[in-house]
Amino acid sequence: MLRYLTAGETHGKCLIAIIEGMPSNVYIDIKKINEQLELRQSGYGRGGRMKIEKDSVEILSGVRDRKTLGSPIALKIENKDWENWKHIMGDGEIIRERIVTKPRPGHADLSGSIKYDHQDIRNVLERASARETAIRVAVGSLVRQFIETFGISIMSHIVEIGTVKSSASYTDSNFKENITNSKLRCADPDAEVKMIEYIDEIKRQGDSVGGIFEVVATGLPIGLGSYVHWDRKLDAKIAAGLMSIQAIKGVEIGLGFESARLPGSKVHDEIFYSKEAGYFRKTNHAGGIEGGMSNGEPLVVRAAMKPIPTLYSPLKSVDIITKEPYEASIERSDVCAVPAASIVAEAIVAWEIACSLVEKFGGDSLQEIHNNYRSYLEQIKDK
Ligand SMILES: Cc1cc2nc3c(=O)[nH]c(=O)nc-3n(C[C@H](O)[C@H](O)[C@H](O)COP(=O)(O)O)c2cc1C
Repeated sequence: MLRYLTAGETHGKCLIAIIEGMPSNVYIDIKKINEQLELRQSGYGRGGRMKIEKDSVEILSGVRDRKTLGSPIALKIENKDWENWKHIMGDGEIIRERIVTKPRPGHADLSGSIKYDHQDIRNVLERASARETAIRVAVGSLVRQFIETFGISIMSHIVEIGTVKSSASYTDSNFKENITNSKLRCADPDAEVKMIEYIDEIKRQGDSVGGIFEVVATGLPIGLGSYVHWDRKLDAKIAAGLMSIQAIKGVEIGLGFESARLPGSKVHDEIFYSKEAGYFRKTNHAGGIEGGMSNGEPLVVRAAMKPIPTLYSPLKSVDIITKEPYEASIERSDVCAVPAASIVAEAIVAWEIACSLVEKFGGDSLQEIHNNYRSYLEQIKDK
């Protein structure tokens, strides 16, 4: 079983994760983790904080000579901004003048301060902040190097920003190249221009905007996850993982919500068989999962991100001390963070796939898991 915990506040010293259950002998290229961290920080519409931070991960334990040992892996990302905040965020005596008492609608501020009995909303927003996703990207990018040894690869792209839609598909020939060349991780260059104009307009109005991204994972064998119990279903695990990303308000797999509007004949992927290819489909409306299990087709999952709650034209709120109406506090903020969220989502999907691989082919070393995997492929070959 693979598991991990994270710790850290947005303006605290650092973010930390401990991963337990990683098999031994997985080659870890720290550069690949840092590349994903850099991607998470980029994307048109990000705010000033991302200019201060230049995230890079430090591996504190569990990896020796660039290979996992099988023991717990500890990861750390320093917050460069800590230097500017240690008089406010330190664990010793701190300056209390700048307490936050005006909760932002759409954030954890109000419910969090009531639930945890805090007078200073900073005690809530520091951990609720999506800065925490940086360490989750590090975790996901590390286990991604494990799942890649099984020929599994993951990518993501932006399909909608506000009302502007991309018409690109992951099956397009120049799909990857277009994403790499895009400031918004959008594979449709014409739509990207309109998306950028839209973000600029929203920014001028002091407002924020959300959108939809799609994550695609290829190379999954048939049979990850299971139909036998609710908490072993791969679609359920992926949906829960994606919903745990800050500001994600909807997840759909394959046709998703659209499948509710179509007749069954337009939804279900017919099954064919040939001696050379074995079983195959001509469509992938199911998004690679049937009955809670991977079916050998690409996994296709989309998630909807709401607009960022911190607005430069603040919404109405109430001061938690005076109970007077007020305009909500402005923390330095993004206008649009959908491209960043798609990188976080790639990491989450990598994590869930890694967990299901370990669950199905479990072992202590990479070799043992690959032996189990090969023998399973051999077993299902003529089915
Ligand atoms: C990558 C990323 C960046 C974000 N940046 C901001 C931000 O700059 N300002 C903000 O108010 N919310 C930001 N959010 C969203 C909030 O963290 C989120 O809305 C808040 O924690 C409340 O959680 P909920 O929206 O899931 O209910 C960001 C989310 C993600 C995924």
